[in-house]
Amino acid sequence: MTILVTGGAGFIGANFVLDWIENVGEPVVNVDALTYAGNLRTLMSLDCDPRHIFVHGDICDGALLGSLMVRHKPRAVVHFAAESHVDRSIHGPAEFIRTNVTGTFSLLESARAYWQGLDAISKEKFRFHHVSTDEVYGSLLSGEPPFAETRVYEPNSPYSASKAASDHLVRAWHHTYGLPTTISNCSNNYGPYHFPEKLIPLMIINALAGKPLPVYGDGQQIRDWLYVADHCSAIRAVLAEGKVGEVYNVGGWNEKPNLDIVNTICALLDELRPDAAGSYSRLITYVQDRPGHDRRYAIDARKIERELGWRPAETFETGIHKTVRWYLDNQEWVDNVQSGAYRDWMAKNYADRTAPP
Ligand code: NAD
Ligand code: DAU
Repeated sequence: MTILVTGGAGFIGANFVLDWIENVGEPVVNVDALTYAGNLRTLMSLDCDPRHIFVHGDICDGALLGSLMVRHKPRAVVHFAAESHVDRSIHGPAEFIRTNVTGTFSLLESARAYWQGLDAISKEKFRFHHVSTDEVYGSLLSGEPPFAETRVYEPNSPYSASKAASDHLVRAWHHTYGLPTTISNCSNNYGPYHFPEKLIPLMIINALAGKPLPVYGDGQQIRDWLYVADHCSAIRAVLAEGKVGEVYNVGGWNEKPNLDIVNTICALLDELRPDAAGSYSRLITYVQDRPGHDRRYAIDARKIERELGWRPAETFETGIHKTVRWYLDNQEWVDNVQSGAYRDWMAKNYADRTAPP
């Protein structure tokens, strides 16, 4: 028994590969193009583990995907590979269309050809799981109920539009060809190995370096935060018990405004690594907002709880404490990701963000 994972060198994918090998123990073929967001150092502990087979490859390369499926005969595909950062999608949407839309199409076609050649029992058991986002539903008004699986799609950024397109392709490949697919739409993840372009790791790393903590707009945008290990256990639950053709929304029941998140991180750092210059909150700096910035996301995770018995294990308080501790204890990993590509991005994204009026 083997599974094929795409994007398993990224933040969630790598956490999933580590979690899968620890909890399930089945071999993983991990296909990742190692873009700026892919980092094999995260998977260093698996270097000598025959259960982790890493393949440096692009999901747009259908011939490669087809040959990997024929060679390794996976019983499931778990699709994480994507361009994932909203701000990058605003600066350069083309790569988002290529990987998230064309790449998902090419993976679906390879999986369909492979699946059609399986014997009846393997065909019945095969799963294609697509990892998606709550951002496809757009933005909630204050007081509106959280996103249920039946919510209409209203993506607002090039990133969320490309993910919405990929969800529709997966749905269509099930409906038209019978490919046994499942989809999960998850809220904001945080935890170890998170690339420091995203809010939580960026704030921790900037604070420790004494750099400004750039809060977009008024900092009152709300996200629903989920500790990454809980996302991994949700995907395991869907793979094990999820119904073919179904969508499961995954969230932490943890709605928080960005400014609260930044203040919580500052307070934890004040406790764990006090700075002689004063509280880290002195570094909070309001900067120009993200264009088209979604105001609020929140997930209604009752379906996955009711049907698959999944609930997050971490509260925000336990998860953020573990996360800040992890960044303090893993400076070498942080130094390693702060490559040239990462520094170029910081200059491009933040240089033109003058303080809001
Ligand atoms: P990430 O950016 O950290 O990692 C993406 C990985 O995909 C990287 O390892 C990268 O090298 C790889 N990749 C990119 N283009 C590729 C290509 N063409 N071929 C093969 N590999 C390629 O992303 P993440 O935060 O780990 O997100 C993983 C998935 O989960 C994405 O599909 C994302 O939309 C979804 N998601 C993320 C969050 C979140 O909060 N981060 C929440 C919900 C859903
Ligand atoms: O909701 C799920 C999504 O969460 C995933 O699909 C995406 O892949 C993932 O990147 C994440 O998207 P967000 O845009 O919500 O995450 P990000 O960490 O970029 O930003 C979180 C919030 O913090 C958002 O309201 C923008 C704000 N922000 C972000 C950065 C990087 C700031 O205020 N300052 C910053 O410097």
